[in-house]
Amino acid sequence: MNVTVVGAGYVGAISATVLAYLGDRITCVESDPVRLAAWRSGTDPLREPGLGDMLRRVDVRFVPHADFADADAILVAVGTPMGRDGRPDLEQVETAAAQIGARARPGAVVLMRSTVPVGTCDRLQSGPLHEQRVVSNPEFLREGHALRDAFFPDRIIAGGPADARATVAELYGRIIDRYGLPRDLSADNGSSGPVPFRWMSATSAELAKYAANGFLATKLSFANEIANLAQAVGADASAVLGSMGLDPRIGSQFLRPGLGWGGSCFPKDTRALQAIGDGMGYDFLVLKAAIEQNARQLRGFAAAIERELPQGATVGLLGLAFKAGTADTRESPAIALARLLLRAGLAVNAYDPAVREVAGDLKIRVHSTAAEACDAADAVVIATEWPEFAAIDLGAVRRLTRGDLLFDGRSVIAPAAAAAAGFRYAGPAGFSERSIEMTAVQRLRLGTAA
Ligand code: UDX
Repeated sequence: MNVTVVGAGYVGAISATVLAYLGDRITCVESDPVRLAAWRSGTDPLREPGLGDMLRRVDVRFVPHADFADADAILVAVGTPMGRDGRPDLEQVETAAAQIGARARPGAVVLMRSTVPVGTCDRLQSGPLHEQRVVSNPEFLREGHALRDAFFPDRIIAGGPADARATVAELYGRIIDRYGLPRDLSADNGSSGPVPFRWMSATSAELAKYAANGFLATKLSFANEIANLAQAVGADASAVLGSMGLDPRIGSQFLRPGLGWGGSCFPKDTRALQAIGDGMGYDFLVLKAAIEQNARQLRGFAAAIERELPQGATVGLLGLAFKAGTADTRESPAIALARLLLRAGLAVNAYDPAVREVAGDLKIRVHSTAAEACDAADAVVIATEWPEFAAIDLGAVRRLTRGDLLFDGRSVIAPAAAAAAGFRYAGPAGFSERSIEMTAVQRLRLGTAA
């Protein structure tokens, strides 16, 4: 099948690479000249694990513009960044739709992979793409795992005109049948049998994407609440959350407490989902609470650090990426935390295994090792869940630091190991005696010691 992919960001580049591996003839459009030059030179500007190697095994034609004339299927994978009102900015989507509508064959199937507000596909179908068949086909890729998630998805969701279904089923046939996929990438989910392919209306497929991300974010916010309360009542948060995860209805993933969720998706998609509700006069209470809790989680962690350090003190910040496995700092809680600490008059020396520089307005020093970032620090703060930090030699770090405070914002250090190394340990909710100011009466009600 001749496929043209519009946009060579995470979703577009991964989709193009996977479909090229499956034997489709792929053209991928990238308008950014710097990114286009990188793809054309065979390097992966996203630094997504495995993507560069895979690209060298397949044939993807990267171009600045496409004519779409010979495309049987067109994937739209352009950016939909969060606008000022919380709604996604659809400028790139509208531009792509206008170009496709003007040049693509009548009947060509246009798969919308970008995350767009509910109703967008139907609107494009009756507008610029009225001669094509518009299908909503959201992706569920995680940065750092994107290639594996694309070859071995938990499900394929799509929806649109009934006569487009066969084309979509053919496009993803080998993924659905788990046939001829790269053996060096094992599925995370360990499931066998055909990948569930759920066909529905475009509107349903659009909402399915937001619902998934909204739920995952809400699950995380709830886990953080439980961890905070567990610390306040003197319970072991990891034991409590671990026991929850044993219930298959809850599932053990996405229960690791931290300083909050970030990235280019959750913050944008939760705001967009809330805006969709607002636009329909529906007050999405649970989601609003999850969004507010996430903001409070970060503020609370920063406040716990500030309470322990005098103005002018120095923090060794370990982690800048929004999560481990990526260099992406978009909406990174670690970066937001650094800004709060600077505003509180603290100095920040940072290190991240994948991030070498930050935006110019963020006045922190980025070092090339954890040791340099922690040297003479009054406190060490872990803000990204890199395995390197979970395995760090705490004794060696303590011998470098001036202070004995360790704030573990990603629950990657065992408190006992921190204590053995000579640190005073605080988890994502700060120090236990301060995490939640509870009155004696509240403690009595909870049955904890006054
Ligand atoms: C997410 C969704 O998982 C993916 O399905 C969707 O397609 C895009 O958005 P991603 O943005 O790559 O993927 O990040 P994810 O791995 O979901 O992590 C999101 C945030 O939650 C990160 O800041 C991470 O640090 C945090 N997190 C994750 C936790 O704090 N605790 C956890 O247990 C898991």
